[in-house]
Amino acid sequence: MNLFDSFQIRDISFRNRIAVSPMCEYSSEDGFANDWHLVHLGARAVGGAGTVLTEANAVVPEGRISPSDLGIWKDAHVENLGRVVRFLRQHGAVAGTQLAHAGFKASTGVPWRNHGAPVPIAEGGWRPIYSSTAKGFTPESIQPEALTPEGIARITHAFAEGARRALEAGFELVEIHGAHGYLIHQFLSPLVNTRTDQYGGSFENRTRILREIIEAVRKVWPERLSLWLRISASDWTEGGWTIEDSIALARQVKPLGVDLIDSSSGGIVPTARIPLGPGYQTPFAERIRREAGILTGAVGMITAPEQAQHIIGTGQADIVLLARELLREPYWPLRAAHVLKQQIAWPKQYERARF
Ligand SMILES: Cc1cc2nc3c(=O)[nH]c(=O)nc-3n(C[C@H](O)[C@H](O)[C@H](O)COP(=O)(O)O)c2cc1C
Repeated sequence: MNLFDSFQIRDISFRNRIAVSPMCEYSSEDGFANDWHLVHLGARAVGGAGTVLTEANAVVPEGRISPSDLGIWKDAHVENLGRVVRFLRQHGAVAGTQLAHAGFKASTGVPWRNHGAPVPIAEGGWRPIYSSTAKGFTPESIQPEALTPEGIARITHAFAEGARRALEAGFELVEIHGAHGYLIHQFLSPLVNTRTDQYGGSFENRTRILREIIEAVRKVWPERLSLWLRISASDWTEGGWTIEDSIALARQVKPLGVDLIDSSSGGIVPTARIPLGPGYQTPFAERIRREAGILTGAVGMITAPEQAQHIIGTGQADIVLLARELLREPYWPLRAAHVLKQQIAWPKQYERARF
């Protein structure tokens, strides 16, 4: 396999194995996509990415990380999202969106104003916020309410409604955000989930909400379209979620219609010691791919064309997702093709600048 090989999942053709990893832009009002999203995401489609994923797209307003997050909780959001999707598809990228609920990490400040700090209600924050358990991320965080089974059903339904709206907007790919210490991860991880009902305790119980969300989403998300799942493959903490749990989860969700595991890590406790370094999460993608027999995405400090090619070429993952490097350089895929001596189509408007 090569980085610039095209591939197919269900009825969707991907022009290469490079994806724009979801990145919050903190640029929405009332959840609406706007010109920022069109230009920012659009530039990365023009830059040659095979897949462009939006930032975490909140399925309920209280599930936003910050008041400025993107949202998909009402039908009125569809039109502006559709405008972005049309542009991405016109420029050859598969358009995807990441369905999300922040759980106890909701209602916090944007990076350039009180990053991660609770936002006062007078400044657009909200209460209550929800989690698996009535315990916040840190003692200073807003303390959440534990979701009741009715509350869980409401959120599961909201994920399905989000998928329905994503379909209306023309997305061909939906990714469920089960990583980074957000709501779904707050159920998966034994470091947070101390419930004693059918949603807590055993692995089977802690993964139940996720299976229910996947099943609800797949009911409205057509067979021909692709469904991905982002997880934190390890909590990097004694007693937490492990790579073995991730492999077991991948085996469970594949028959439910998940096509690819986007293998990130961390985020559930602030004390985790994460060995950051180039490609530090790629071994998770490799093990899940090998041991669960499912497509995987590698993400995290992938910056060099040769590094990305090595990950794909050695079968460690089926795709690479780049985040910060694609903020630095939206046209990274075009340059990577040049470095790797691959012939790819350029946007015709840019042909005269071709390397
Ligand atoms: C500005 C910014 C916003 C992010 N927002 C999201 C998000 O909405 N959803 C998500 O799953 N990850 C998010 N991430 C994490 C990235 O998708 C990615 O997993 C992480 O940055 C590691 O990849 P990198 O080393 O290529 O940046 C964000 C990262 C950055 C830098």
